[in-house]
Amino acid sequence: MADMLSTTTAAPSVIRRSDYRSPDWLVPHIDLEFDLDPALTRVRAQLSVTRNGGHDHPLRLDGDGIVPLEVMVDGRPVSPDSWHLEAGALILTLPGDAHLVETLVELVPESNSKLMGLYASGGLLCTQCEAEGFRRITFFPDRPDVLSRYSVRMTADKARFPILLANGDPIDRGDLDDGRHWAVWHDPFPKPCYLFALVAGDLACNADQFVTASGRTVQLGIWVKESDLPRTGHAMTALKNSMAWDERVYGREYDLDVFNIVAVADFNFGAMENKGLNIFNSRYILADPETATDIDYDGVEGVVAHEYFHNWSGNRVTCRDWFQLSLKEGFTVFRDQNFSADMGSHAVKRIEDVRVLRAAQFPEDSGPLAHPVRPESYMEISNFYTATIYNKGAELIRMIALIAGPERFRAGADLYFDRHDGEAATCEDFVQAMEDGAGLDLGQFRLWYEQAGTPRVQASLIHDPVTESVELVLEQSLPPTPGQPVKQPMAIPLRVALFNPVTATHHGDELLILTDARESFAFSGFATPPILSINRGFSAPVIIQTDRSQADLAFLSAHDDDPFARYEAMQQLMVNVLIARTSGRPADEQAVVDAIRYTLTDTALDPAFVAEVIRLPSEAYLGDQMTRVEPDAIHTAREALQTRIGVDLEHMWRDIHAGTKANIFSTSPAAKGARKLRNAALHYLAASGASDGPAIAFAQFSEADNMTERQAALGTLANGHSAERDAALDIFYNRYCDDALTLDKWFQTQAFSLHPDTADHVAALALHKDFTLANPNRVRALFGAFSANQWAFHHRSGKGYRMVADCIIALDKLNPQTAARLVPPLGRWKRFDEGRASLMRAELQRILAEPGLSKDVTEQASKSLN
Ligand code: PHE
Ligand code: ZN
Repeated sequence: MADMLSTTTAAPSVIRRSDYRSPDWLVPHIDLEFDLDPALTRVRAQLSVTRNGGHDHPLRLDGDGIVPLEVMVDGRPVSPDSWHLEAGALILTLPGDAHLVETLVELVPESNSKLMGLYASGGLLCTQCEAEGFRRITFFPDRPDVLSRYSVRMTADKARFPILLANGDPIDRGDLDDGRHWAVWHDPFPKPCYLFALVAGDLACNADQFVTASGRTVQLGIWVKESDLPRTGHAMTALKNSMAWDERVYGREYDLDVFNIVAVADFNFGAMENKGLNIFNSRYILADPETATDIDYDGVEGVVAHEYFHNWSGNRVTCRDWFQLSLKEGFTVFRDQNFSADMGSHAVKRIEDVRVLRAAQFPEDSGPLAHPVRPESYMEISNFYTATIYNKGAELIRMIALIAGPERFRAGADLYFDRHDGEAATCEDFVQAMEDGAGLDLGQFRLWYEQAGTPRVQASLIHDPVTESVELVLEQSLPPTPGQPVKQPMAIPLRVALFNPVTATHHGDELLILTDARESFAFSGFATPPILSINRGFSAPVIIQTDRSQADLAFLSAHDDDPFARYEAMQQLMVNVLIARTSGRPADEQAVVDAIRYTLTDTALDPAFVAEVIRLPSEAYLGDQMTRVEPDAIHTAREALQTRIGVDLEHMWRDIHAGTKANIFSTSPAAKGARKLRNAALHYLAASGASDGPAIAFAQFSEADNMTERQAALGTLANGHSAERDAALDIFYNRYCDDALTLDKWFQTQAFSLHPDTADHVAALALHKDFTLANPNRVRALFGAFSANQWAFHHRSGKGYRMVADCIIALDKLNPQTAARLVPPLGRWKRFDEGRASLMRAELQRILAEPGLSKDVTEQASKSLN
């Protein structure tokens, strides 16, 4: 690899956590003046800088793609020989300990296709600064441990940009003679520059208020283009619920007089927590029944909460350096997960969160891009906004909360916020505050931050009828990951219960903490062998291996009183059958059919939970259970089991489908649950091969008064061959071709489809007139979805790999961040047969040979070859 890199691009330099040094210069205050225009924006910055400690280092102001048109110190122009540029940064030698440094730069927002810094989107001007975008706006020490008070003055054409927003509070505004106007905003809270934001545009506002626990009134605004205003109600409700929840659960109030959210169409991630001015990918703000599914509604609620919660976990207490990213992201995901659980169903939310963890984080943790929750090094920080930092990071906080219990966890969180308010902190600071505030010893637990990889725990029960006791033997192992060949045992909290198979009861749930490589735990009072329920609630993010029989799993799938464990037993039952079938071994499909039938007839269950439990594991999850993934065999086995379930329980699917049709649309948890179960029934009914399947799906597609049922019907049809398939796709396109977010669903549904020609469909869609590389949502809808579709993407011809590599190469020239996020699926080659593996490697090599490849894609593709 090393020589290959040197022939193409200079190898990007590696940043190491151990190289951290506190900043040489601080910037207590910054004054910014923007003369805004999409074609040419002028940015004047005035930084008050102070020397930090006794040293004679120059002032280093990061810059990326900007040149200083003026440099002044203390009001006087400095001669060009007292400053220079070094790797984009402005280096300035300063005589004293405190100065006023002023620079002027020019930007062209309308040609900023990276969507980092100041850019244009749908007639708006907006900013994105995390992680290192501020240096594309002005010269500044672009690191999160430099905290400043910001004053921002914006001037722009009043007709095109009537609304001018920035962080903090609006201070003043006025009109100019030439049709332009200006506004000044001031943010009283010192913040790192990654939290800076401004927005200018013709926006309409959904305005509301929130009265905080201490009685302050906060003005809330959700800013969108006028025609989208009717789609902002759900986001506003979510915002107010989030504000109340953070007061109730964490005792944290909002701290400014205004809180604004702006929705933009072109955005690299989900949303951004800029202080007082969150900027969102419009897909996480806009929702109405016509265009948004229940999953979209939940996404809006969760992301609005996530960004709002960052005001404390991220903004008031920020990160010392980017190696600490999980300090804010892991904790904030944990907070938004619990909020969403409180708004809906705890059981279903936990299942969904674990499904996401297993689909995104487990594969990452077992592949070439595996990294610890607190990484040791990176080339490009944008590549580290990963499922490991976010979702595994959240699991770490969840384990601490479980070990501490709710009261002590709250005491730890209080201490953390109080101790570090206004500071840039580390993951270690968080753990220390938890130890001090909650009274825990997290010595060994710290390994969770250091060691990458998913631990495996082998659990076996040994019953002794003479002493009427059982011994639970637990053995843990942690596979090697890049740079970490040898691992130490971790502290793994496992909730367990031992079921009496006759009474279907247990003597209570126990929390065991496994700390050694091998440990055994004794339990008495068992005349007959109990059935093991383990990792209840998914108490630890590990892979459990047990020798439980299919009968034991069927028992737990019917009787476990922990909803996650019940779901998990069913999943394991299904996995065992499917893996056996995949490898040509005999498989008891009847056991799965019976377990599903039992679940469907348990009327005490929440329909949303039933829909989760009866769902077959995805093809990708099945692949993860095999040493060598066999996409075709997995697909065949899963389709066959689906058909069997469809046929054997056909009358039940028909009854459920007919019986769950609502007369009035609602987004209540009960209504959402009914739709989820109804869609699952439709899916199995179609899988049964019943001749009226396509007609029933088409009827649902046509009659639905909501997108949840319409899209599910479209997805069901898209998997098969029928006249209804083509008709529904045409109707959907014609109905939504002017609505970008909804048209994304048309691309995504086809890319996710289990139709045998999906790879060819995707190739054609990439040439469709509505496909564009300029919009990240559209790229993800087509290529993100396609590369997550195991059977289609891993087509043995390699055409799937080639298409994705083509997309990466083309997109890298416009938007390296989004291009780099398409690389990881190609890096899973070690898990596949030699033929596929060499095709995947060839595409990675072809990408790396591309002249001028970005640091982002270079890092991901070169690591993926290892
Ligand atoms: N900090 C954002 C969040 O998780 C994510 C983000 C990162 C957005 C980088 C844009 C750019 O809430
Ligand atoms: Zn976040």
